[in-house]
Amino acid sequence: MSKVNEAALKKRISISTLHKMKQRGEKFATLTAYDASFAKLFDDHGVSMLLIGDSLGNVVQGLDDTLAVTVDDIAYHTRCVRAATQGALIVADLPFMSYATHEKACENAATLMRAGAQMVKLEGGEWICDTIRSLVQRSVPVCAHIGLMPQSVHLMGGYKVQGKSDEDAQRILREAKAVEAAGAQLLVIECVSQKVAKAVTEALSIPVIGIGAGPDTDGQILVMHDLFGISAGHIPKFSKNFLTETGNMQQAVARYVSDVAEGHFPAAEHSFE
Ligand code: KIV
Repeated sequence: MSKVNEAALKKRISISTLHKMKQRGEKFATLTAYDASFAKLFDDHGVSMLLIGDSLGNVVQGLDDTLAVTVDDIAYHTRCVRAATQGALIVADLPFMSYATHEKACENAATLMRAGAQMVKLEGGEWICDTIRSLVQRSVPVCAHIGLMPQSVHLMGGYKVQGKSDEDAQRILREAKAVEAAGAQLLVIECVSQKVAKAVTEALSIPVIGIGAGPDTDGQILVMHDLFGISAGHIPKFSKNFLTETGNMQQAVARYVSDVAEGHFPAAEHSFE
């Protein structure tokens, strides 16, 4: 079959694909992406989902946090990623304050869906449940993001591991159940102990994607710059430079995908107790 025909036959992953993978116990790898060239590289090497994350504030715009990122920024990068990919599920972040009211959430989610997103992601627990319901009722699929929420960095007093006390761990579990009940079809959980992430993954029927959350979640996500070891400044304990051990970008991505699928990544040294 010619390459053109192969491409035409490639079917884009939907949220149902990830739900089936969870049911079958198949782990999947996801990455952030912001531009066409890297998005195509990730798509060609079996990355299941690409997130146009507001982490672009850090890694693309060179800022200290994600707060200055706008809906237009995310929409621009979503168009770039969508245009270059055929297989991966495309999820776009609703940035800081863009879902402060239901009206804003719906309008801004529509902008991101029109730019090519298949789902939007928003940070928050019980307080965003009404917003999730309102988006889902209007046919916008939602991924919720709990644990460490970078948009709340100043409220949380820095980038810290969440859910350390029993009380906090219980709160995170409650939040996970609440966002699922509100209609979220996917959950990202960031920087929590392995134990908390395991409990959340087992309690939910929707797929749970971890970052700094240990090996027991259904999927993993990394900021792409961390995978290549090119992030400036602080290198998080949970990230791994796959380029060092493989020597080229294609193999680094392929190794990440297979290491996640086979349960080799994240290892104990990338996880929090
Ligand atoms: O913005 C982002 O890249 C994210 C990931 C870290 C999950 O939210």
